[in-house]
Amino acid sequence: MVLQTEKRKKEHIDLCVNKDVSFDKKTTLLECIELNYSSLPEIDLSAVDLSTIFLGKNFSFPFIVSAITGGAQVSKKINLQIAEACSVVGVGMGLGSMRAMIEKPSLKETYNVKKDFANIFVSGNLGVAQLENYSIKEIDLAVQSIEVDALAIHVNSAQEAMQPEGDTNFSNLITKISDASDSLSIPIYVKEVGHGISFDIASKLAKTNITAIDVQGAGGTSWTRVDSLRHKKSFGNVFRNIGLPTAVSIIKTKKALIGHNKKIIASGGIRNGLDAVKSIVLGADLVGNALPVLQCQQKNGVRGVVDYLENFKKEMEIASFLVGCKNISKLQEQEYFVIGQLNDWLK
Ligand SMILES: Cc1cc2nc3c(=O)[nH]c(=O)nc-3n(C[C@H](O)[C@H](O)[C@H](O)COP(=O)(O)O)c2cc1C
Repeated sequence: MVLQTEKRKKEHIDLCVNKDVSFDKKTTLLECIELNYSSLPEIDLSAVDLSTIFLGKNFSFPFIVSAITGGAQVSKKINLQIAEACSVVGVGMGLGSMRAMIEKPSLKETYNVKKDFANIFVSGNLGVAQLENYSIKEIDLAVQSIEVDALAIHVNSAQEAMQPEGDTNFSNLITKISDASDSLSIPIYVKEVGHGISFDIASKLAKTNITAIDVQGAGGTSWTRVDSLRHKKSFGNVFRNIGLPTAVSIIKTKKALIGHNKKIIASGGIRNGLDAVKSIVLGADLVGNALPVLQCQQKNGVRGVVDYLENFKKEMEIASFLVGCKNISKLQEQEYFVIGQLNDWLK
């Protein structure tokens, strides 16, 4: 099983870096959000401060590298280089699924970035189906052994359905998430993998003790596409564009979480600081992405990721300046306009 998991991890990285794995007929629809541009913002661009605190950790701007890897030997270098860049810039990162290290604890070193970069927020990661296979005690031991700050539970029915070896029994998993959120020693949040969280799922999750929802909507990396390339399954192409665009998922999740004290992470196809600021205006607390960071790491290592993150931060600051907002809470009060196709989704 570990060997199969390790092989899958390597294939995921190779496919994501070398093939076109994006949605080809769907976008995030963040292009249908227009900000209230100000030609006279009445603030100084250099005074824009997007720093924030998420689950007790400081972020220099509201960004988390979404879960990418762990469990294969190639993962160790990727995770350490991303962690170093996050530490330099002051943002957080997610680790890939920890299933491999629960099965084989010696793989812990491929995830253990906290031992070198204790200052950054790091989330562990586990597929929701694994809540059936491992006890809370086993999961707790695993997360404590690498000292992560939170555990992201990924919910990925579309991806699993593409895999011959996929875990496709999704019965009763909301109860499992709820139980885990009551008993695990660290905060839990729920994340998709790029096909989006709907209003009804967010409403059910709102009643649990999870701390956040990471929407991971459609418009960026398509995981039905990645896994169908792996298995050369023709039906994979049928499902390449399945899911809720990221803008829809943020708006619906925000609505579902009204009155509940939970955070929102906006992700899935977020490719620049303007889209990131639009996501904050829609109500997100953090934004994230995976594939662009992996591509920068593969090309230019730590320096590549630092440059990418610094540029992204600058874009977010400029976008905030252009709507006259000097911090995140001001952005979250900003008005915005919905145009085009997004209106159809929101009807
Ligand atoms: C190579 C690679 C491996 C990934 N592995 C995981 C994983 O183990 N667990 C998980 O929750 N998400 C995983 N993801 C999904 C991302 O966290 C993210 O949800 C998805 O790629 C959409 O974001 P993007 O459009 O910015 O890439 C992986 C992404 C990439 C690129």
